[in-house]
Amino acid sequence: MFDDPTVTLPSGTSIPALGIGTWNMGETTADAAQEIASIRKAIELGMTVVDTAEMYADGRSEEIVGEAIQSLRDDVFLVSKVYPYNASAQGAIEACERSLKRLGTDHLDLYLLHWRGSYPLEETVSAFEKLKADGKIRNWGVSNFDTDDMEELFSVTDGKNCAANQVLYNLSRRGPEYDLLPWCQSHGVPIMAYSPIEQGRILSNHELIRIAKAYQATPAQVALAFLLERDGVMPIPKSSNPERVAENRGATELEITDEDWAALDAAFPPPQKKVSLEML
Ligand SMILES: NC(=O)c1ccc[n+]([C@@H]2O[C@H](COP(=O)([O-])OP(=O)(O)OC[C@H]3O[C@@H](n4cnc5c(N)ncnc54)[C@H](OP(=O)(O)O)[C@@H]3O)[C@@H](O)[C@H]2O)c1
Repeated sequence: MFDDPTVTLPSGTSIPALGIGTWNMGETTADAAQEIASIRKAIELGMTVVDTAEMYADGRSEEIVGEAIQSLRDDVFLVSKVYPYNASAQGAIEACERSLKRLGTDHLDLYLLHWRGSYPLEETVSAFEKLKADGKIRNWGVSNFDTDDMEELFSVTDGKNCAANQVLYNLSRRGPEYDLLPWCQSHGVPIMAYSPIEQGRILSNHELIRIAKAYQATPAQVALAFLLERDGVMPIPKSSNPERVAENRGATELEITDEDWAALDAAFPPPQKKVSLEML
């Protein structure tokens, strides 16, 4: 099925490196059928990591995902996220229960703290560990955590059980390569790269277009291939269009030459110093 890039979680579970995001899905009822078809297309093509959050469309994205994965649940690696303001000892557990209900499932494969809030990390981690012990989630992780946040997380009880960090990372946002990506790679924490095509904004870059043409590929495919090339990096492009989902899947088939990687470095320079983690 999917003999393409994979990522290994700290638990030893191996999952496809290329998934699908669902931010903005569920906003309009008229688009639901297309959105469901896109998620199903992704799963059919082996992009079985499906990312959502209680925040997206106020829970309606989770409902769309729930409809899409009905009867396919066992094929999917399901990811959702808790709002920081729900990430207390009791609040995280209740938020997770609500997400499970909307998703029509009895467990999440990965539950993320969406970004850092005011509850102590130790409290959120202990709630996540309880959810894990109760079988409601298989793994937990974080999102929008910079290197110093990760170090702090690893210093609290059970903090080292973090299974992923989801951050803004793409050709035009290479800051994580300076320290966060190496830190996560050396600690065995996969990076989920969100907005991997910069929500479409990088696709008109002339150099990206030139390189894509040389491979009879599209700019989105090259942008995704750039991320898939890196160990422990999982891009989660969102598309509500099944044809674009199939196009994005094609990124796993690209083999870019060293010369063209160098050309991409010239067009999208890697960081020379620490860049604070950006958020969208
Ligand atoms: N943890 C966080 O804080 C956080 C923040 C942002 C995002 N995320 C997650 O990461 C996912 C991806 O990020 P994102 O949605 O911000 O941005 P993205 O995946 O970089 O871009 C999505 C946009 O690009 C379009 N698109 C997708 N494939 C395309 C292609 N092949 N050619 C041209 N356009 C294409 C989509 O339109 P169509 O749908 O019309 O195809 C959509 O407008 C989100 O959906 C969400 O799950 C997490």
